Amino acid sequence: MTETVLVSGANRGIGLEHVRQALAAGQSVIAACRAPDQAIALAELHERYPARLRIERLDTGEAGSIAALASRLDGVAIDILINNAGLYGGGWEDSAARQTLDGMDYDQWEEILRVNVLGVFRLTAALLPNLMLGERKLVVMMSSDLGSIASNTQGQSHAYRTSKAALNMLTKGLSIDLRERGVTVMSMAPGWTQTDIGGANATWPVDESVRRQRAVIAEMTSAHSGQFLNLNGEPVPW
Ligand SMILES: NC(=O)c1ccc[n+]([C@@H]2O[C@H](COP(=O)([O-])OP(=O)(O)OC[C@H]3O[C@@H](n4cnc5c(N)ncnc54)[C@H](OP(=O)(O)O)[C@@H]3O)[C@@H](O)[C@H]2O)c1
Repeated sequence: MTETVLVSGANRGIGLEHVRQALAAGQSVIAACRAPDQAIALAELHERYPARLRIERLDTGEAGSIAALASRLDGVAIDILINNAGLYGGGWEDSAARQTLDGMDYDQWEEILRVNVLGVFRLTAALLPNLMLGERKLVVMMSSDLGSIASNTQGQSHAYRTSKAALNMLTKGLSIDLRERGVTVMSMAPGWTQTDIGGANATWPVDESVRRQRAVIAEMTSAHSGQFLNLNGEPVPW
């Protein structure tokens, strides 16, 4: 059976590349994004893969948008949910100054937490019935090395770091809550990747980052549930 992957934040960056590589590998994809009408790259992919790509509207910061998506997907099996949608709060350079002790933008921090934490939880809960219909029953949380408390030697980026540390706690907690239902939950550290968040100087071209992520995801079983892994499949210290 063809695996179905749902990717949030699928219109650009890491999410879009997950859509591309999943389609190229023969998987079916539900590509969820805030503004499907403006998602040109997804529209082009849809022309190429009309039978295996479904584009859906989703704002993970809005409870109503999540509920509406879950309703449209009623009865649709999802094998892998990639909770990719997330924000740093703008590009790296312009937003970092608004996450410091002196310059914290509290409205932005609330938005980051709403999307990076609450939105992920809400979407996962809403799509649990779909995951139960799928074979893989795998939830991937797109975390970050910046969410690692153990690796934090530089401070800064407090809004983003706290959101990803909280996301990691959800990975651990949901892996326990969902163990008996056979659902595997993992946190992925995608490495510093060349996207709008990562910027042009980042280490990994987006295609290589996602190729490595997919290799890790392919190996995930329930035995790995609750882990925080990097692009090489190695544990990242919490
Ligand atoms: N790039 C890196 O170096 C890096 C490192 C560690 C972790 N990550 C994580 O990887 C994930 C993807 O980031 P990226 O690097 O691909 O950045 P990106 O190019 O800025 O893409 C972010 C994606 O998230 C979507 N998004 C943001 N808020 C949303 C919302 N409320 N509802 C739905 N979608 C929303 C964006 O949609 P719009 O186009 O509508 O804004 C966009 O599709 C994020 O969770 C990020 O924290 C990235």
